[in-house]
Amino acid sequence: MADINREWLLVQRPQGEPKPSDYQWRESPVPEPGPGEFVVRVLYAAMDPAIRGWMDAQGNYMPPIPLGTPVRSVVLGKVVKSNVDAHPVGQIVSGLGAWADYVVCKPGYVGPVPVEWGHDLTTYLHPLGAVGATAYYGLFEVGKLKDGENLLVSGAAGGVGSLVGQMGKIKGCKVVGIAGGAEKCRWLTEELGFDAAIDYRATKDLSAEIRKHFPGGFDVYFENVGGATLEAAMDNMAMHARIAICGMISAYNDSHDPPPGPRNMWNILVKRAHVEGLLVSDYMHRAMPGYQQINDWIKAGKLKFKVDVRDGLENTPEIFNKLFTGSHDGKLLVKIGDA
Ligand SMILES: NC(=O)c1ccc[n+]([C@@H]2O[C@H](COP(=O)([O-])OP(=O)(O)OC[C@H]3O[C@@H](n4cnc5c(N)ncnc54)[C@H](OP(=O)(O)O)[C@@H]3O)[C@@H](O)[C@H]2O)c1
Repeated sequence: MADINREWLLVQRPQGEPKPSDYQWRESPVPEPGPGEFVVRVLYAAMDPAIRGWMDAQGNYMPPIPLGTPVRSVVLGKVVKSNVDAHPVGQIVSGLGAWADYVVCKPGYVGPVPVEWGHDLTTYLHPLGAVGATAYYGLFEVGKLKDGENLLVSGAAGGVGSLVGQMGKIKGCKVVGIAGGAEKCRWLTEELGFDAAIDYRATKDLSAEIRKHFPGGFDVYFENVGGATLEAAMDNMAMHARIAICGMISAYNDSHDPPPGPRNMWNILVKRAHVEGLLVSDYMHRAMPGYQQINDWIKAGKLKFKVDVRDGLENTPEIFNKLFTGSHDGKLLVKIGDA
């Protein structure tokens, strides 16, 4: 067990892509738990795009990370000191932590993961963690996907998107993904069974490309990207289409000067479409049935996934920025400690 606690603090609100000067490295003694608290040795931190929003001053569905405090992050780790009977030393837990070696936790925000299912620990930060719950509840409860419908998903080769598309295939849907680069598109169609994948980086007219695959429009669009991608999708809605707004990563670094929204909002009226936002934390208190279904699909070989594990707390700020260039291959995680 490391005898110091290393942490990345946020010391400045990023303008655009986060820079090294937005962070400060701090070393201090390993914390002690207070009454009703436990201390977790962080093993992995999930590089979630949402962290970028928490760095901004305005906050979103969570308050902004206060300047001078550790960067908030979903983590997976092991309890090493505890004043809580339900979280004994040695328990593997996941939940809200920080870019740090150790985090002090209270019950509720961090809880045990079903290690008895026998997966590599990283799986509990991807399909059997918030990423999987986002895909499952977002697609079926917000998108209300029905068997055999036409499903379009952006950010399709990413953590959430790749699961959404495969869940659509399990339900007998026609699934088209939008992703950046030929290799990611090949993975979607040849290994994950998507019906088609559109490489948005190599496509001049995304709207026309979507229309080729869905001449009658899509029934459900699972939105991870926003901006021009959302506008192109909204040209191609079937009557009574549903759009599940999960994320808009293309705009996260533009929060100081956001671009104008889609110019074709009128199509929502024309197509009597339904647009609804989703937030995974609304489902976490009842996520277990979703995880059980996802676990069954993984064990049956119906759901595949990739994790891209990079090394070292010290490299975390640099690794985080890969989310915005797509220069990672699967759900991006940082390995911080050993179990
Ligand atoms: N609402 C919720 O509760 C919730 C929960 C979890 C995640 N999310 C959202 O879900 C989305 C995916 O998250 P994830 O954790 O699974 O990350 P991810 O998809 O594994 O990684 C982000 C991907 O976004 C794509 N991207 C980045 N900048 C882009 C741009 N300007 N235009 C188009 N694509 C761009 C890149 O893929 P390419 O190489 O294909 O460009 C990159 O690999 C994000 O929008 C995130 O905020 C929402």
